[in-house]
Amino acid sequence: MVRPNGSTPAAKCRSPSEHSVAPQRRIINGRVRPESVRPQDVSQCIRPNLNASSWSLLEANCEINVEILRSCLDWQTSMSELLPLIDSFGRLHNNLRISVTDRCNIRCFYCMPAENVEFMEKSELLTFEEIERFVRVAVPLGINKLRLTGGEPLVRRELHKLVEKLAAIPGIQDIGLTTNGIMLAEQAADLYAAGLRRINVSLDALSPEKFKQFTRRDGFEKVLEGIKAAQRVGFDPVKINAVSVRGMTEEEVVPFGHFARETGADVRFIEYMPLDADNAWERGKVLFAHEIIEQLSTEIMPLIPEGQPDKNAPATDFVFEDGIGRIGFIASISQPFCMSCNRIRITADGKLRNCLFSLDETDLRPLLREGGSDAAITEAIRASVAAKKEGHEINTARFIQPDRPMYSIGG
Ligand code: 5AD
Ligand code: SF4
Repeated sequence: MVRPNGSTPAAKCRSPSEHSVAPQRRIINGRVRPESVRPQDVSQCIRPNLNASSWSLLEANCEINVEILRSCLDWQTSMSELLPLIDSFGRLHNNLRISVTDRCNIRCFYCMPAENVEFMEKSELLTFEEIERFVRVAVPLGINKLRLTGGEPLVRRELHKLVEKLAAIPGIQDIGLTTNGIMLAEQAADLYAAGLRRINVSLDALSPEKFKQFTRRDGFEKVLEGIKAAQRVGFDPVKINAVSVRGMTEEEVVPFGHFARETGADVRFIEYMPLDADNAWERGKVLFAHEIIEQLSTEIMPLIPEGQPDKNAPATDFVFEDGIGRIGFIASISQPFCMSCNRIRITADGKLRNCLFSLDETDLRPLLREGGSDAAITEAIRASVAAKKEGHEINTARFIQPDRPMYSIGG
């Protein structure tokens, strides 16, 4: 049932015939007025995403919430009159993660195999032009936030040129990048100049030895240099992603707390998820967010939860009691946030995925490469969102780990 957090009571549906009538847009200065949204607009928007039985349930109860679409249109670009991407659970999708390569210059154990990695052929990767085209088609559907991922995105040559192209697309409000930081010192200035403003650096340990245990490679100092360079050129904040693994992360927790306080970087602990190529994940290997909070609170000082400015952000943020040092948690295992997920993903080889853990994907490369129309791409995006499952089910016996490990999906 469509019930987003904090929504107001449901509105009544009108007659069934109204569901098939295109909504009359009430537009001012090229923008749909959110307050003018009617119940039939909502049903129009949600109906294609529902199977017959869900639809009759909704219709019978007349509990489609006008507020969902109102807030959605509030987000949408002023250019668009298209209906936004709402799935059958009422989740709005405005956030696209774009993987630009599956290659990587390190080998984190929770992601890649140690040896003999089979990478995609270069010709299989979407070109910058194909990625740009895809984003231009997705923007009128409400996509306004992008994040570039990999593999390691900075191994893709001239990535800043892609950032430039994407930053120039009207309607894109925010572009981020998640990198392992090894090549960041060389590229930070170009990326910033191209319009990138948000950067997350993956770093799981604060000693070279522990770094090597996580990544099976050297490079710790380079990552530190990368973080400093990013701060120097103006990225603020730089966020550090540390995967939290039982038996490995405990001794890194306090050093990371001090690191956040001393450098001004935000540190975010991400619970280890079953996306490793080695298939070695077990629930017992996850160091949970609440354990880290406890450790930081007793060994440094209490952490105070911060108000969450973006209710769709997966991280829960805290600040130390004296106001110095921000720590976040992505508690994907202990506190799944699937019901507020606003993300879709495209892999480096052009497969659209509606969830990190999805077992199906939609191949968009033929459409992008062989003259598919904007309408066909739009339709494929809608169908993918429509098919999105409720959540990842990691904590149930039903969970099946996807075939693609993290480096090949894009984080
Ligand atoms: N579990 C949790 N986080 C992971 N990442 C990669 N693989 C996993 C995993 N199995 C993180 C990376 C990076 C982000 C994109 O996802 O460290 O910061
Ligand atoms: Fe590379 Fe990122 Fe995978 Fe680590 S997690 S191996 S940095 S792609």
